[in-house]
Amino acid sequence: MRTLLAISLSALVGSLAWAGEDSSLVIDGEEIKIRATAPAHADALDEVYSGWVFRTDETQALQMDDFENPAFVFVDQAIDMFSKVDGTEGKSCASCHDDVAEFAGLRPTMPRVVDGEVVTMEDMVNGCRTKRMGAEPWKWSSASMTAMTALIGLQSRGTEINVKIDGDAAAQWEAGKELYYTRVGQLDMSCANCHEDNYGNMIRADHLSQGQINGFPTYRLKNTKLNSVHGRFKGCMENIRATPFKEGGEEFKALELYLASRGNGLSVETPSVRN
Ligand code: HEC
Ligand code: HEC
Repeated sequence: MRTLLAISLSALVGSLAWAGEDSSLVIDGEEIKIRATAPAHADALDEVYSGWVFRTDETQALQMDDFENPAFVFVDQAIDMFSKVDGTEGKSCASCHDDVAEFAGLRPTMPRVVDGEVVTMEDMVNGCRTKRMGAEPWKWSSASMTAMTALIGLQSRGTEINVKIDGDAAAQWEAGKELYYTRVGQLDMSCANCHEDNYGNMIRADHLSQGQINGFPTYRLKNTKLNSVHGRFKGCMENIRATPFKEGGEEFKALELYLASRGNGLSVETPSVRN
């Protein structure tokens, strides 16, 4: 079985000179760290790279200018939503949070572990909607949710990711790591088989990255909308013909914590542009 798989993977993956090595990402005069020394806990990697590094010049350029970046259409919608009253309490986000800029510094620490559970940005937004506004929760990958998490994430753009993995976060982090290295699906592959063993190589027409999540939510040219972290995980699982875990479920949350921590040292890039 192992040998067969090794053959099928090497048939899929081809190598390519790695053009992105010396490019840099500067937005509005601010340098975004797209490569960094790998954190000690990502011990199979020497360096970590943002997914931006692996994209074509054209895709990269879209993210270098907020006027070109298609994600900003949705960010603008979120700015409007922020002060829109919703729910039985007659409140908007702005009723309690004067300015969205107060969330600067939050995104690089997300997700967090509270009382043994992983809390994501989506959980925080929906927590306020249901408990404080009397409003319906937004669906995980809905247009409203991804727009709002993009707006909140943007407040920390350029700040280094620094997710906590020790202490009470350790058990969830270990669970996420386990999932990252577990082979699943008809193709019997793990996340690591592509994003750790083969980043920099081509898989079919796609240039494989390390699968970092520092740029999420991300605008994809493929589906012309913002994509959540869990939405992306789901897509990758479907591609290897595995039954995906549930968006917002505990497996994807643990995996999100683990993946976020592999990006410690990169900058928040939200909202990024990918193919
Ligand atoms: C009725 C008041 C109220 C409303 C309305 C409200 N929030 Fe909150 N929100 C809070 C309080 C209180 C906290 C907890 C503050 C803290 O822990 O520092 C909080 C926390 C948060 C946090 C986490 C902040 C942190 O640093 O931990 C986010 C993100 C957030 N709210 C987003 C929103 C969004 C988006 C909306 C609108 C969809 C919203 N909130 C609506 C009161 C509100
Ligand atoms: C068969 C190879 C393959 C496997 C296995 C795989 N992915 Fe991916 N993944 C891709 C490709 C191809 C892309 C798009 C190009 C890129 O960014 O690598 C991608 C993109 C991503 C991205 C977006 C990166 C960015 O910068 O926007 C994330 C996050 C991701 N994958 C996570 C995962 C996780 C988590 C798993 C395991 C559940 C997984 N992938 C398994 C092939 C794979």
